[in-house]
Amino acid sequence: MRTYLVTGGAGFIGSNYIHYMFKKYGDSIRIINLDALTYAGNLENLRDVEDRGNYTFVHGDICDREKVSSIFAEYDIHRVVHFAAESHVDRSIEDPDAFVRTNVLGTAVMLGCAKAAWEEPDGSFKEDRKFLHVSTDEVYGSLPEDPNAYFYETTPYDPHSPYSASKASSDFLVKAYMDTYKFPANITNCSNNYGPYQFPEKLIPLMINNALQGKDLPVYGDGKNVRDWLFVEDHAKAIDMVCEDGRLFETYNVGGHNEKQNIEIIHIILDVLREELSEDDPRRANISEDLITYVTDRKGHDRRYAIAPDKIKKDLGWYPETAFEEGIRKTIKWFFANEDWMKNVTSGDYMKYYESMYKDR
Ligand code: NAD
Ligand code: TYD
Repeated sequence: MRTYLVTGGAGFIGSNYIHYMFKKYGDSIRIINLDALTYAGNLENLRDVEDRGNYTFVHGDICDREKVSSIFAEYDIHRVVHFAAESHVDRSIEDPDAFVRTNVLGTAVMLGCAKAAWEEPDGSFKEDRKFLHVSTDEVYGSLPEDPNAYFYETTPYDPHSPYSASKASSDFLVKAYMDTYKFPANITNCSNNYGPYQFPEKLIPLMINNALQGKDLPVYGDGKNVRDWLFVEDHAKAIDMVCEDGRLFETYNVGGHNEKQNIEIIHIILDVLREELSEDDPRRANISEDLITYVTDRKGHDRRYAIAPDKIKKDLGWYPETAFEEGIRKTIKWFFANEDWMKNVTSGDYMKYYESMYKDR
C-alpha cells in the first residue's frame, strides 16, 4: 500500500487534498497527516475521514526533527506532500520570523528526514519515492498589467513579501536537494486557491463572511490588483497528477486561467449571495454594495499574478476544469451549509486578529 505523508493536512488546501485522495483512491492508499494545528489548522476540516483505518493524524511541528524522523521510522513513506506553511501575506508583514521558521527551517527538516529515510548506501534513492513541495506563484514577484505577460516555470524569482521570500527560500532548498543529491522531488507553484474550508483571513471567505453579517468589505488600495483564482479541487487534482506522472526534478505551474481584479471578485460574491439566499433569509437585507470600503493599501502589494499553465497541460494533460462562476457558487453554497464551521473559526482569536489587522486601515 502506498503511504503518503501529508504536512499541513488540517489547513485549507491540505484538507481538500486529503478528501480528494480518499475519494479517488479509497482504501488503496494510507495517509499520515502531520500538522501543528496553528490558528489555520482545524481538525473539523477532516471529520469525514478521521475514522478511516487508512488515515492517521499526527500532532506535531515540521521543525521538530525528532518527531518527523520518528514518522519516517514508523511508516514506509512513498510520497511526502508538503503543504505545511505560514500562508498569509498580511501576517508575514507583521511577523516575518514565524514565516522563516516554518517555511524555511520546517522545509529543511522535512527534506533532511526524507533524504535520510530514502537514501541507499550508494547515494541513490529507493524506488517509487517522491517529495512534492507545494509552493506559490508569488515567488515570481509581480506582473505588469500587460494581459500578455504571464508567469512561466522559467520566470526568474523576485519575491517581495516576507511570505513569498520564505516560500522562495524553501523552493531553493528543494532545488538544491534535487541538484546536489538527485533527491526525487517536484515543485508546484500555484495561483490563489479558493473553495471550501478556506480560513476567512483570505479575500474570498473574508468577503463572504463579512457580507453575510453586513460588515464592511475592506478593499486594499484601489481594488484593481489582479489574482488568478484556482478552485481548490482542481489544485488537488494537479498535485495528484504531478505525484503520479510528473517528471522528477521538474517544476509545474498550476493556474486557474482566471484573472480577476479584487473589486470584480467582490461584486461577483455580492451577486451570487443575492441569488443564492432565499427571499425570506434575514441575511439578504445585509447584502449591499454600500459595504465596500476602500482602506489603506497592503505594504508592498503585488499588482498582478497570472500563470500560463501550459507545461502541466502539455506534459500531464491537467487544466483548470472549474469555471469561476461554478466554483464561487459551490464555495458560497458550502459556506451556507457549514455555518457552524464559520462560527467556530471566527470566534475568539480571529476577532482579535481582525481587530488588530483592520482597525487602523
Ligand atoms: P493554511 O494556512 O490554510 O494551512 C496551513 C496548515 O499548515 C495548517 O493546518 C497549519 O496548522 C499547518 N502548519 C503551520 N505551521 C506548521 C508547522 N510548523 N508544522 C506543522 N504544521 C504546520 O494554508 P493553505 O492555504 O492550505 O496553503 C497550503 C500550502 O499551499 C502552503 O504551503 C502555501 O504556501 C501554498 N499555497 C497556498 C495558496 C492559497 O491560495 N491558499 C496559493 C499558493 C500556494
Ligand atoms: P489574499 O487572499 O490575502 O491572497 P494573496 O495576498 O496571497 O494574493 O489577498 C488576495 C487579494 O485581495 C490581494 O490583492 C489583497 C486583497 N485583499 C483585500 O483587498 N482585502 C482584504 O481584506 C484581503 C484579506 C485581501
